Amino acid sequence: HLRTKRATCGLEAAVMEKIFSLFQMYIQVFDATNTTKERRDMVLDFAKENDFKVFFIESVCDDPSVVASNIMEVKLSSPDYRDCSSAEAMEDFMKRIDCYQVNYQPLDPDNHDRDLSLIKVLDVGRRFLVNRVQDYIQSRIVYYLMNIHVQPRTIYLCRHGESEYNVLGRIGGDSGLSIRGKKFSIALCKFLEEQNLKDLKIWTSQLKRTIQTAEALKLPYEQWKALNEIDAGVCEEMTYEEIKETYPEEYALRDQDKYYYRYPTGESYQDLVQRLEPVIMELERQENVLVICHQAVMRCLLAYFLDKSADEMPYLKCPLHTVLKLTPVAYGCRVESIYLNVEAVNTHRERSEEAKKGPNPLMRRNSVTPLASPEPTKKPRINSFEEHTASTSTSLPSCLPREVPTQVS
Ligand code: F6P
Repeated sequence: HLRTKRATCGLEAAVMEKIFSLFQMYIQVFDATNTTKERRDMVLDFAKENDFKVFFIESVCDDPSVVASNIMEVKLSSPDYRDCSSAEAMEDFMKRIDCYQVNYQPLDPDNHDRDLSLIKVLDVGRRFLVNRVQDYIQSRIVYYLMNIHVQPRTIYLCRHGESEYNVLGRIGGDSGLSIRGKKFSIALCKFLEEQNLKDLKIWTSQLKRTIQTAEALKLPYEQWKALNEIDAGVCEEMTYEEIKETYPEEYALRDQDKYYYRYPTGESYQDLVQRLEPVIMELERQENVLVICHQAVMRCLLAYFLDKSADEMPYLKCPLHTVLKLTPVAYGCRVESIYLNVEAVNTHRERSEEAKKGPNPLMRRNSVTPLASPEPTKKPRINSFEEHTASTSTSLPSCLPREVPTQVS
């Protein structure tokens, strides 16, 4: 794991930013015209001195129509061409390509570069050549690059319709839709018809409120357990006021560092990001998709597409009954927020004034047990599971081993 310091920006840098945020690791992206062996040797020498592993990504494209559309979509918006017409920019960039071509020495995994770790992406993903993948992270980068595409498409993100628990101010649980929540699902159906989409995939979590929302659409949908709402552990089904009263320290700790804070016997936003990795990978592979999910989950997905930091993520505004329409464009995503005109409660909590002052020296992150609260017993999240356990199991010890390693800082 290396400290991050990002270099120049370009198309590859934008892609690497995504990889960076997805795998939550420290990597250095050096995006530049490393088009000669000499330049690459310089990179390798630097890496050796500083104990970096190097993975080269070379994108080779000689399809003239792809080159032209890349210039129009990506280069025209670059500061180099701020005061140019598109014809001038096109002419200038074509000249630049000609200049590079004189010196360009492609990566050569068959001979000179046989010992380097690299991937060659040919014609924007039509073919790949992968050489000497050294570790897990490099293999994930290869997998990621092999799954992304540049076809035009739209991703729709929304939360389930207002639930009975939303109305009561309770978090988590597995309640059904309120009357207004049902109205939203009908409005969503109408909205999708108006969008007139080709081959829309619909994904939900495995919780009742998203499934009930999808049922109203009268279209096939797929359930993902990974899309379930953040597990609030011992705080599941409580109101924020009850949490503040019962677990005052937990309440304060979460406010201090909401991204890293893990509910006792539950999850943190950081856990959630890891849980969502396969969903994000699959979203990258797909074209038009509607994801019907939950407040915390939607924040994580949105943060990924909009490159939001870990600090901002847990406070992104994802109101009920509002669809966010994301259209990937060069260097980012265009976002449109569409309120479907069905009233709902507001479940957003602003960052507290205390938290704005900065971290507290006593801050605890991702700890398993509360500092000053009674022993937690985990509440089942799904009613059917509750019924099942009631008849088949005796009480379980509260200190069961956890799947995710914990960190205390
Ligand atoms: O209140 C609705 C809800 O989806 C809860 O189930 C969940 O715990 C919460 O939002 C997540 O939001 P926050 O991280 O702001 O508490």
